[in-house]
Amino acid sequence: MLVTGTAIISCNKSNSNSSPSDPLAALNLPATPFAYASQPLPLYFNSPPIQAQINTPVDNAVTDWGATLGRVLFYDKKLSINNSISCASCHAQANGFSDTAVLSKGFAGGLTGRHSMSLINAKYYPNGRFFWDERATTLEQQVLTPVQDAVEMGMRLDTLNNRLQKTTHYPYLFNKAFGSETITSDRIAKAMAQFIRSMISYQSKFDAGRAAVTPGQDPVLTPYSNFTAQENEGKQLFFSATTTCNTCHGTETFTAPADRNNGLENPSVDRGKGGVTNIPVQIGNFKVPSLKNIALTAPYMHDGRFKTLEEVVEHYNSGIKSNPNLAPQLKNNDGTPKRMNLTTQQKNSLVAFLKTLTDTVITTDTKFSNPFR
Ligand code: HEC
Ligand code: HEC
Repeated sequence: MLVTGTAIISCNKSNSNSSPSDPLAALNLPATPFAYASQPLPLYFNSPPIQAQINTPVDNAVTDWGATLGRVLFYDKKLSINNSISCASCHAQANGFSDTAVLSKGFAGGLTGRHSMSLINAKYYPNGRFFWDERATTLEQQVLTPVQDAVEMGMRLDTLNNRLQKTTHYPYLFNKAFGSETITSDRIAKAMAQFIRSMISYQSKFDAGRAAVTPGQDPVLTPYSNFTAQENEGKQLFFSATTTCNTCHGTETFTAPADRNNGLENPSVDRGKGGVTNIPVQIGNFKVPSLKNIALTAPYMHDGRFKTLEEVVEHYNSGIKSNPNLAPQLKNNDGTPKRMNLTTQQKNSLVAFLKTLTDTVITTDTKFSNPFR
């Protein structure tokens, strides 16, 4: 089938209809782009606290073609100087767009300085900052950083533009996304940011339970009808004054407004946010990551120090280190680190609750998968 300017894309899964003139022959894309811009989010995503978290800039709303282009870029090894790795090499869909390795391997085998991060719910970090130390001020700025990073992809932006221009599919896709075939770093960044902002988790067991709560009932106090007794106990604990988990990992997106110190170490070997800003009270502070799909993104923390959720819970229960910047919720009035004194049953319940945040729809959905044939 021939493709003309406004025609429907001919590429289909079997590729039986595609001709050599098909600009998208290298890709397995649906005839009509997937719906990235409008996803059937549950009603509680309209709540003011969640709406206030959205970091989409006015000049880069998600469009179906823009996110489609972003998806192709995200999975393209051409983004690394030696064509060896793509973004997905360190952000694997099956692992909640994270990496199972403590540190990830870059294009030449070098290791990253920190553990890879999940990309789920990136849209809902209210300060719009990215990386463990929040050094990127926008997602659009963040996505070009790994491309040029000396360990990660080792690429130059002008080299990348030329490389993409020589393909048949990119000029076509840039035209679909931005109205002309011109390839610029700004457009590359915008498209990848659109793809990542469309990675919204709303189909976990937690979400089903939350959606079934009758409007007017308290979604925290009401046990979820689809939860086991253990999961409901874990939920109560997560939202309790005993653990205060929800005061940092907040709303149904489980993200936070700003960096915090959760008492991993003292002194802070990795200076985190303070290493970027040189502000003393931010030393050892890190981004509070979303807990959606947390069961799939081990190991945990910026340095991947914990292998299991049980270890994470034990950290909060009994292992919080004294630190001058320790968050107030995690210390006693005299400044000593809080001890939660949870029973074994309570710790198990907390882990069971964290596992209800697993959303395997997003980790298997074709629209977030590798589009290359
Ligand atoms: C070699 C492995 C590697 C590659 C390749 C890689 N990343 Fe990452 N990514 C990481 C690591 C490690 C971090 C955390 C680094 C830090 O905080 O210092 C990270 C962090 C991020 C974050 C921040 C998430 C947050 O919530 O703050 C985003 C977004 C991201 N990467 C997107 C991308 C994109 C887009 C690409 C491709 C252009 C890419 N990454 C390529 C390893 C990688
Ligand atoms: C004061 C804020 C705060 C509180 C309270 C808090 N956390 Fe965290 N949490 C953080 C920060 C900050 C990080 C990242 C720290 C780092 O990597 O250096 C984190 C990381 C995590 C991680 C690992 C995330 C990942 O992607 O590696 C898990 C799991 C987690 N917290 C669960 C919990 C649970 C369960 C509770 C309650 C027992 C809790 N948190 C309470 C701030 C908090």
